[in-house]
Amino acid sequence: MKLFDVYPRFDVTLERAEGVFVYDKNGKKYLDLYGGHGVISIGHTHPVYVNKLKKQLDKMVFYSNSVDLPIQDELAEKLGNQSGYPDYDLFLCNSGAEANENALKLASFHNGKKKIIAFNKSFHGRTSAAVSVTDNPKLSAPINRDGFEVEFIELNNETTLKQSLQKNNVCAVIVEGIQGVGGLDAPSEAFLKTLSDFTRKNNALLILDEIQSGYGRSGKFFAHQYAGIKPDLITVAKGMGNGFPVAGVLISPEINGKSGMLGTTFGGNPFACAAGLAVLEVLENENLMQNVNNVSSYLLKELKQIPQIKKIKGKGLMMGVEFDFPVADLRKKLLFEHQILTGSSSNPNLIRILPPLSIKTEQISAYPAALKQVMSEQ
Ligand SMILES: Cc1ncc(COP(=O)(O)O)c(C=O)c1O
Repeated sequence: MKLFDVYPRFDVTLERAEGVFVYDKNGKKYLDLYGGHGVISIGHTHPVYVNKLKKQLDKMVFYSNSVDLPIQDELAEKLGNQSGYPDYDLFLCNSGAEANENALKLASFHNGKKKIIAFNKSFHGRTSAAVSVTDNPKLSAPINRDGFEVEFIELNNETTLKQSLQKNNVCAVIVEGIQGVGGLDAPSEAFLKTLSDFTRKNNALLILDEIQSGYGRSGKFFAHQYAGIKPDLITVAKGMGNGFPVAGVLISPEINGKSGMLGTTFGGNPFACAAGLAVLEVLENENLMQNVNNVSSYLLKELKQIPQIKKIKGKGLMMGVEFDFPVADLRKKLLFEHQILTGSSSNPNLIRILPPLSIKTEQISAYPAALKQVMSEQ
């Protein structure tokens, strides 16, 4: 059997990883500014994480949600306290798409409505409801279409938002804290405040997809916290497990659960919870959000000195630099000549970086230095 061929891949074979570095089969070292798509939050193979998982492996890897698993409560309590949502409930699942799928279902269970508002260039995952609110028809199979009404509107356009919500038939609005795949555009603080206000007034729920922008990546626990709003549902995944698949929905206390309403076999298994606990412990003990802010301001200052960069987007360590030419060749040069892994987006002119939140200024400095060098050779 061979692998089903759906991924465009770099010609790099990775075997090992440590901190902010990954190593290929020949032992060559690369600076990981991509974090395996924003997944590596506390750094590869962090000793606290590895030890916690080893201990859990010896104790119990799995049992299903048919029994009490106190490690789930421990994770919920720690996440609630650290994220500023101690009064919310947590539903645990396995991937970002699954978190959004459940958040959308929950919104519809709650108010009985079925129209969703999403934004141009959004990406929320590939399962049925999640892909329906993703602004990319190429990702939808015929069975994904026409399930429910979705209106895609322009980000930060309050007039359209108000018009779309006024009909009172909207179940929920779903928005990314900072758009990932779409190219690092973000809802402004003013727009998020209006969104929060208007969804409430029109009996619709607000779902904040913090799958990529959450868990400290923006410099706050959640990117939407810059706006001081409290969404009804918040979805998390990626950085939550530092590589182990774990995801969740944070649910406002105004939304009630009923037995059997949501469910999953693997979601919330003890091994995943141990990974989630180790991540929160390191985020707190190593002050990683402060580190994100320090490293981000340093990087911003350095990048601003490169005249070929037309725009810098994003927040914290979810940052995009936009040029006025396609960056595919530039990213190849960064990888093969400077050993730096970066990410892309639907904007062909933009390089996206999502490094481990533990990266130091002296490590990330290789990135602006490499950009400057490549530019000087052109
Ligand atoms: C904002 C956002 N939402 C949802 C998803 C889907 O997550 P997953 O690939 O874990 O299903 C992604 C993945 O890139 C994402 O960036």
